[in-house]
Amino acid sequence: MSQRAAGPSKGDKAMPRLGINIDHVATLREARGEDYPSIVEAANTCFINGADQITIHLREDRRHIQDTDVEAVSLVCKRHLKLFNLEMGINQEILEIAVTVAPNWVCIVPERREEMTTEGGVDLLDPETFSKVKSGIEYLRERVPDLKISLFLQADPSILEKAVLLEADAVEIHTGDYARAHLNGENFSSYLDSFQQAADYLNSKGVGVHAGHGLTDQSVVPLLAVGEFVEYNIGHWIICRSVFDGLGSVVKDLKNLFGQKFS
Ligand code: PXP
Repeated sequence: MSQRAAGPSKGDKAMPRLGINIDHVATLREARGEDYPSIVEAANTCFINGADQITIHLREDRRHIQDTDVEAVSLVCKRHLKLFNLEMGINQEILEIAVTVAPNWVCIVPERREEMTTEGGVDLLDPETFSKVKSGIEYLRERVPDLKISLFLQADPSILEKAVLLEADAVEIHTGDYARAHLNGENFSSYLDSFQQAADYLNSKGVGVHAGHGLTDQSVVPLLAVGEFVEYNIGHWIICRSVFDGLGSVVKDLKNLFGQKFS
Protein backbone atom coordinates (compact mmCIF):
# COMPACT_ATOMS: atom_id res chain seq x y z
CA MET A 1 0.00 0.00 0.00
CA SER A 2 1.34 3.45 -0.80
CA GLN A 3 2.05 5.82 2.05
CA ARG A 4 -0.67 8.10 0.78
CA ALA A 5 -3.27 5.37 0.33
CA ALA A 6 -6.28 6.04 2.49
CA GLY A 7 -7.71 2.52 2.17
CA PRO A 8 -11.24 1.53 1.21
CA SER A 9 -13.78 4.01 2.49
CA LYS A 10 -17.13 3.10 1.09
CA GLY A 11 -19.35 0.43 -0.35
CA ASP A 12 -17.09 -2.57 0.21
CA LYS A 13 -17.76 -5.32 2.70
CA ALA A 14 -14.11 -6.09 3.36
CA MET A 15 -12.99 -6.32 6.96
CA PRO A 16 -13.45 -2.87 8.48
CA ARG A 17 -10.42 -0.83 9.45
CA LEU A 18 -9.52 -0.55 13.10
CA GLY A 19 -8.25 2.89 14.04
CA ILE A 20 -6.85 3.07 17.55
CA ASN A 21 -7.10 6.35 19.38
CA ILE A 22 -4.00 6.59 21.58
CA ASP A 23 -4.78 9.97 23.17
CA HIS A 24 -5.06 8.34 26.58
CA VAL A 25 -1.49 7.10 26.49
CA ALA A 26 -0.58 10.77 26.26
CA THR A 27 -3.08 11.53 29.06
CA LEU A 28 -1.10 9.22 31.37
CA ARG A 29 2.17 10.79 30.31
CA GLU A 30 0.89 14.35 30.83
CA ALA A 31 -0.48 13.43 34.27
CA ARG A 32 3.12 13.06 35.51
CA GLY A 33 4.90 15.33 33.05
CA GLU A 34 7.36 12.54 32.18
CA ASP A 35 8.47 11.20 28.80
CA TYR A 36 6.69 7.89 29.33
CA PRO A 37 4.50 6.11 28.39
CA SER A 38 5.78 6.66 24.86
CA ILE A 39 3.23 7.51 22.21
CA VAL A 40 5.60 6.08 19.59
CA GLU A 41 5.80 2.76 21.41
CA ALA A 42 2.01 2.76 21.69
CA ALA A 43 1.57 3.34 17.96
CA ASN A 44 4.18 0.69 17.11
CA THR A 45 2.51 -1.84 19.41
CA CYS A 46 -0.89 -1.18 17.84
CA PHE A 47 0.46 -1.70 14.32
CA ILE A 48 2.50 -4.80 15.20
CA ASN A 49 -0.74 -6.31 16.52
CA GLY A 50 -2.89 -5.52 13.51
CA ALA A 51 -4.23 -1.98 13.83
CA ASP A 52 -4.94 -0.34 10.50
CA GLN A 53 -4.73 3.23 11.63
CA ILE A 54 -3.65 5.46 14.50
CA THR A 55 -6.00 8.24 15.48
CA ILE A 56 -5.00 11.17 17.66
CA HIS A 57 -6.79 14.36 18.60
CA LEU A 58 -4.67 17.49 18.83
CA ARG A 59 -6.85 19.61 21.09
CA GLU A 60 -6.57 23.37 21.40
CA ASP A 61 -5.85 22.95 25.13
CA ARG A 62 -3.15 20.28 24.43
CA ARG A 63 -4.44 18.30 27.38
CA HIS A 64 -2.99 15.04 26.03
CA ILE A 65 -1.48 15.01 22.53
CA GLN A 66 1.27 17.61 22.01
CA ASP A 67 2.47 19.12 18.74
CA THR A 68 5.60 16.94 18.73
CA ASP A 69 3.42 13.82 19.07
CA VAL A 70 1.70 14.64 15.79
CA GLU A 71 4.98 14.54 13.87
CA ALA A 72 6.15 11.44 15.76
CA VAL A 73 2.94 9.48 15.15
CA SER A 74 2.94 10.51 11.50
CA LEU A 75 6.44 9.01 11.11
CA VAL A 76 5.43 5.74 12.79
CA CYS A 77 2.41 5.43 10.48
CA LYS A 78 4.58 6.04 7.43
CA ARG A 79 7.14 3.50 8.62
CA HIS A 80 4.42 0.85 8.93
CA LEU A 81 2.69 2.00 5.70
CA LYS A 82 -0.48 2.45 7.71
CA LEU A 83 -3.00 5.21 8.03
CA PHE A 84 -2.81 8.32 10.16
CA ASN A 85 -6.05 10.02 11.17
CA LEU A 86 -5.77 13.42 12.84
CA GLU A 87 -8.85 14.59 14.74
CA MET A 88 -9.14 18.33 15.11
CA GLY A 89 -11.47 21.22 15.66
CA ILE A 90 -11.45 24.09 13.16
CA ASN A 91 -8.71 26.28 14.57
CA GLN A 92 -6.18 28.12 12.41
CA GLU A 93 -3.10 27.00 14.35
CA ILE A 94 -4.15 23.36 14.16
CA LEU A 95 -5.12 23.66 10.49
CA GLU A 96 -1.55 24.77 9.80
CA ILE A 97 -0.14 21.79 11.71
CA ALA A 98 -2.40 19.48 9.68
CA VAL A 99 -1.09 21.00 6.46
CA THR A 100 2.53 20.51 7.57
CA VAL A 101 2.04 16.92 8.68
CA ALA A 102 -0.36 15.93 5.88
CA PRO A 103 -2.06 12.93 7.51
CA ASN A 104 -4.07 10.48 5.41
CA TRP A 105 -7.29 11.55 7.10
CA VAL A 106 -8.45 14.55 9.04
CA CYS A 107 -11.56 14.00 11.15
CA ILE A 108 -13.22 17.29 12.02
CA VAL A 109 -14.69 17.26 15.51
CA PRO A 110 -16.40 19.84 17.72
CA GLU A 111 -14.31 21.10 20.58
CA ARG A 112 -15.22 22.79 23.82
CA ARG A 113 -12.55 23.52 26.40
CA GLU A 114 -14.62 22.45 29.39
CA GLU A 115 -15.70 19.09 27.94
CA MET A 116 -14.35 15.81 29.37
CA THR A 117 -14.19 14.24 25.90
CA THR A 118 -15.62 15.07 22.47
CA GLU A 119 -19.30 15.58 23.22
CA GLY A 120 -21.80 15.30 20.39
CA GLY A 121 -20.97 15.68 16.74
CA VAL A 122 -20.21 18.83 14.75
CA ASP A 123 -23.39 20.94 14.64
CA LEU A 124 -23.58 21.54 10.90
CA LEU A 125 -27.12 22.89 11.31
CA ASP A 126 -25.65 25.98 12.90
CA PRO A 127 -24.87 28.32 9.96
CA GLU A 128 -21.77 29.76 11.64
CA THR A 129 -20.34 26.30 12.34
CA PHE A 130 -21.22 25.15 8.82
CA SER A 131 -19.34 28.04 7.21
CA LYS A 132 -16.37 27.61 9.58
CA VAL A 133 -16.13 23.92 8.68
CA LYS A 134 -16.56 24.72 4.98
CA SER A 135 -13.66 27.20 5.07
CA GLY A 136 -11.53 24.76 7.07
CA ILE A 137 -12.15 21.99 4.54
CA GLU A 138 -11.30 24.34 1.65
CA TYR A 139 -8.12 25.43 3.40
CA LEU A 140 -7.02 21.82 3.87
CA ARG A 141 -8.03 20.62 0.41
CA GLU A 142 -6.14 23.44 -1.31
CA ARG A 143 -2.95 22.58 0.54
CA VAL A 144 -3.02 18.79 0.99
CA PRO A 145 -4.20 17.33 -2.32
CA ASP A 146 -4.59 13.66 -1.27
CA LEU A 147 -6.14 14.37 2.11
CA LYS A 148 -9.38 12.58 2.99
CA ILE A 149 -11.76 14.38 5.29
CA SER A 150 -14.31 12.89 7.63
CA LEU A 151 -16.82 14.74 9.79
CA PHE A 152 -17.78 13.51 13.25
CA LEU A 153 -21.58 13.74 13.26
CA GLN A 154 -24.72 12.48 14.94
CA ALA A 155 -26.75 10.08 12.77
CA ASP A 156 -29.35 12.76 12.10
CA PRO A 157 -30.62 12.93 8.48
CA SER A 158 -30.66 16.75 8.37
CA ILE A 159 -27.04 16.92 9.60
CA LEU A 160 -25.91 14.21 7.19
CA GLU A 161 -27.37 16.21 4.29
CA LYS A 162 -25.01 19.04 5.24
CA ALA A 163 -22.03 16.65 5.18
CA VAL A 164 -22.95 15.73 1.61
CA LEU A 165 -23.07 19.44 0.71
CA LEU A 166 -19.55 19.75 2.13
CA GLU A 167 -18.41 16.82 -0.05
CA ALA A 168 -16.91 14.99 2.93
CA ASP A 169 -15.11 11.75 2.03
CA ALA A 170 -16.65 10.09 5.06
CA VAL A 171 -18.84 10.69 8.07
CA GLU A 172 -17.79 9.25 11.40
CA ILE A 173 -21.04 8.51 13.16
CA HIS A 174 -20.94 9.43 16.85
CA THR A 175 -21.66 6.17 18.66
CA GLY A 176 -21.32 7.58 22.20
CA ASP A 177 -25.02 7.53 23.15
CA TYR A 178 -25.48 4.08 21.63
CA ALA A 179 -22.41 2.76 23.49
CA ARG A 180 -23.67 4.13 26.80
CA ALA A 181 -27.12 2.58 26.26
CA HIS A 182 -25.40 -0.74 25.52
CA LEU A 183 -23.24 -0.44 28.63
CA ASN A 184 -26.32 0.32 30.78
CA GLY A 185 -28.22 -2.68 29.44
CA GLU A 186 -30.85 -0.44 27.80
CA ASN A 187 -32.64 -1.15 24.55
CA PHE A 188 -30.40 0.14 21.78
CA SER A 189 -32.30 -1.04 18.68
CA SER A 190 -33.38 2.50 17.74
CA TYR A 191 -29.70 3.47 17.50
CA LEU A 192 -29.00 0.56 15.18
CA ASP A 193 -31.95 1.63 13.00
CA SER A 194 -30.66 5.18 12.81
CA PHE A 195 -27.15 3.94 11.93
CA GLN A 196 -28.57 1.75 9.16
CA GLN A 197 -30.58 4.66 7.74
CA ALA A 198 -27.53 6.93 7.95
CA ALA A 199 -25.40 4.33 6.17
CA ASP A 200 -28.00 3.81 3.42
CA TYR A 201 -28.14 7.55 2.80
CA LEU A 202 -24.37 8.12 2.92
CA ASN A 203 -23.65 5.08 0.73
CA SER A 204 -26.18 6.38 -1.83
CA LYS A 205 -24.21 9.65 -1.92
CA GLY A 206 -20.81 7.95 -2.15
CA VAL A 207 -19.74 9.05 1.33
CA GLY A 208 -17.85 6.58 3.54
CA VAL A 209 -19.33 5.53 6.87
CA HIS A 210 -17.10 5.37 9.96
CA ALA A 211 -17.98 4.86 13.62
CA GLY A 212 -16.43 6.02 16.85
CA HIS A 213 -16.78 6.99 20.48
CA GLY A 214 -17.36 4.97 23.61
CA LEU A 215 -17.13 1.58 21.91
CA THR A 216 -16.02 -1.59 23.70
CA ASP A 217 -15.49 -5.18 22.58
CA GLN A 218 -19.15 -5.75 23.55
CA SER A 219 -20.84 -2.73 22.03
CA VAL A 220 -18.93 -3.01 18.77
CA VAL A 221 -20.42 -6.45 18.05
CA PRO A 222 -23.96 -5.32 17.02
CA LEU A 223 -22.30 -2.70 14.79
CA LEU A 224 -20.11 -5.34 13.14
CA ALA A 225 -23.32 -7.32 12.61
CA VAL A 226 -24.96 -4.33 10.90
CA GLY A 227 -21.85 -4.41 8.69
CA GLU A 228 -22.11 -0.89 7.30
CA PHE A 229 -19.12 0.78 8.94
CA VAL A 230 -15.85 0.63 7.01
CA GLU A 231 -13.85 2.06 9.89
CA TYR A 232 -14.01 2.09 13.69
CA ASN A 233 -12.04 4.45 15.91
CA ILE A 234 -11.73 3.11 19.44
CA GLY A 235 -9.55 4.50 22.23
CA HIS A 236 -10.57 4.77 25.85
CA TRP A 237 -11.78 1.19 26.30
CA ILE A 238 -8.68 -0.26 24.61
CA ILE A 239 -6.31 1.65 26.88
CA CYS A 240 -8.43 0.75 29.95
CA ARG A 241 -8.51 -2.95 29.03
CA SER A 242 -4.77 -2.89 28.40
CA VAL A 243 -4.17 -2.01 32.05
CA PHE A 244 -5.56 -5.36 33.16
CA ASP A 245 -4.17 -7.35 30.27
CA GLY A 246 -0.73 -6.04 31.22
CA LEU A 247 -0.81 -5.44 34.99
CA GLY A 248 -0.21 -9.07 36.01
CA SER A 249 2.87 -9.56 33.88
CA VAL A 250 4.38 -6.23 34.93
CA VAL A 251 3.98 -7.13 38.63
CA LYS A 252 5.44 -10.62 37.96
CA ASP A 253 8.48 -9.13 36.16
CA LEU A 254 9.13 -6.71 39.01
CA LYS A 255 8.88 -9.47 41.61
CA ASN A 256 11.36 -11.52 39.55
CA LEU A 257 13.68 -8.51 39.57
CA PHE A 258 13.40 -8.27 43.35
CA GLY A 259 14.37 -11.95 43.53
CA GLN A 260 17.69 -11.36 41.74
CA LYS A 261 20.99 -10.69 43.50
CA PHE A 262 22.45 -7.26 42.75
CA SER A 263 25.48 -7.10 45.05
N1 PXP B 1 -13.76 9.19 17.29
C1 PXP B 1 -13.76 10.49 17.62
C2 PXP B 1 -14.11 11.49 16.57
C3 PXP B 1 -13.39 10.91 18.91
O1 PXP B 1 -13.41 12.23 19.24
C4 PXP B 1 -13.01 9.93 19.85
C5 PXP B 1 -12.58 10.36 21.23
O2 PXP B 1 -11.45 11.16 21.15
C6 PXP B 1 -13.00 8.59 19.45
C7 PXP B 1 -13.40 8.25 18.18
C8 PXP B 1 -12.60 7.50 20.38
O3 PXP B 1 -13.52 7.45 21.43
P1 PXP B 1 -13.23 6.53 22.69
O4 PXP B 1 -11.94 6.99 23.28
O5 PXP B 1 -14.40 6.76 23.57
O6 PXP B 1 -13.13 5.12 22.18
